[in-house]
This record gives sequence, structure tokens and C-alpha cells, in this order.
Amino acid sequence: MDRPLTAAELFDAVGHGYEDAFGRPPTVDAAVRLLLERLPDSARVLDIGSGTGRPVAGDLAAAGHRVMGVDVSAEMVAIAREQVPDADFVHADIREWDSAAGSWDAVCAFFPFLQMTRADTIKVLGDIARWLKPGGLLVLITIPMDVENLEVPFLGHTVRITSFAAPDLLRHVEQAGLDVVETDSSVFSPDREGQPDEEHLLVVATRKG
Ligand SMILES: C[S@@+](CC[C@H](N)C(=O)[O-])C[C@H]1O[C@@H](n2cnc3c(N)ncnc32)[C@H](O)[C@@H]1O
Repeated sequence: MDRPLTAAELFDAVGHGYEDAFGRPPTVDAAVRLLLERLPDSARVLDIGSGTGRPVAGDLAAAGHRVMGVDVSAEMVAIAREQVPDADFVHADIREWDSAAGSWDAVCAFFPFLQMTRADTIKVLGDIARWLKPGGLLVLITIPMDVENLEVPFLGHTVRITSFAAPDLLRHVEQAGLDVVETDSSVFSPDREGQPDEEHLLVVATRKG
């Protein structure tokens, strides 16, 4: 195939292999713990790019939160529904999905932006700011890099990723109407030979107002 794989094609092909290789990276673990500490009881949590449903939706649903995952990969949605029956999973492209304004206590976005254009990421950040309740939390994790359409190996595939350098991402989060309250970064080594180490940037932001 000449054209790069779409996110749906890539994650349909990767399926359970994602969890096997990436499991519970320390930054994801820290983000889940932060949410468990700060969320009100029975919080409404939107997980964008919910993948296999583990660990994020699984841990939050087990703590009594009402979690909805949205993922563009039908295979990932099927796996998540089977693994985490206590959460809801929707098969949709977040760029075309919508929700009521001010309706979520928290939005998680752990790595869904790497296969979006920069313009799409900026648009979705604006949507997230609108969807959150005032004071609601955005918890985002990404690989911070000043790249567009960079070819990288990913679990036996070649994919093109687009991202922002950390200061540019933080500026776009603020411009969306969110206050960045915390950041953290660590280097993660996937459990798969040939899969390079990657930096994980955690950004915690709250909706103003
Ligand atoms: C790298 S995986 C991470 C999964 C999960 N968030 C985690 O950290 O374990 C990225 C997920 O985002 C999903 N994704 C990518 N682009 C998306 C889009 N436009 N709309 C919804 N989901 C998307 C992929 O299908 C994939 O399941």
C-alpha cells in the first residue's frame, strides 16, 4: 500500500498487540492515579482514543466513574467492550463526534493526536474545552516532537506521525480556553524488540471559569 495507514487501519491491525507492547506506561499510570485522586464520585469521563480499554477505562470504571471511550478503530472498540463491560465504547472518529457543552468532569486523551493533522488537533482541543464542565480536567499524554508526517516504526508497521514540541502544545491547550496546571515527562521503553524508546509528556489542564 503506497498511502500511509489511517489510524483505524493501523489499530484494527494492531489490536491486542498494543496492550502487549505498551501495557501500562508510567505516565499513563500516573495520569490514572491523578484522576482517581481528583475526580468527584461517579464522575463522567470521556476517554478519547480509548484503545483496548485497559488500563484507563477499566481502572476508572472499577472506581465507580461513568466512562465513555471513543475510538476510530472498530477492532479496538470490540476489544474494549469485551475487556471493560462497565464502560461504554463508541466507534467514531473524534474529529466528527460531538457532545453537549459542559457535560464531562474529565476528558482523557492518551496518544490519539499522533495521527491527526495539527489543525485537527487544535480543533479537537477546542471541542474538549467546550465539552468539559467549568473546572473540569483535561488529562492529555502525547509524544512531544516538532514533526509533521514523520515516518516511524510501530509494531511491525510504518506509520506517519504528527505532533507538537511541548511549548507549542501547551500554547494550543491554553488558546483552547484551558489552564495548564501541571506537566510531567518521562522516557518509556516499549516491551517489543525494535520499538524505540519514546518521551511521554503528561499535560493536566482545567477548563476556565
Ligand atoms: C496509541 S493508542 C492509545 C490507546 C489508549 N489511549 C492508551 O493509552 O492505552 C491510540 C488510540 O487512539 C485511537 N485514535 C486515533 N485517532 C483517532 C480519532 N481520530 N478518533 C478516535 N480515536 C482515534 C486509535 O484507534 C488508538 O486506539
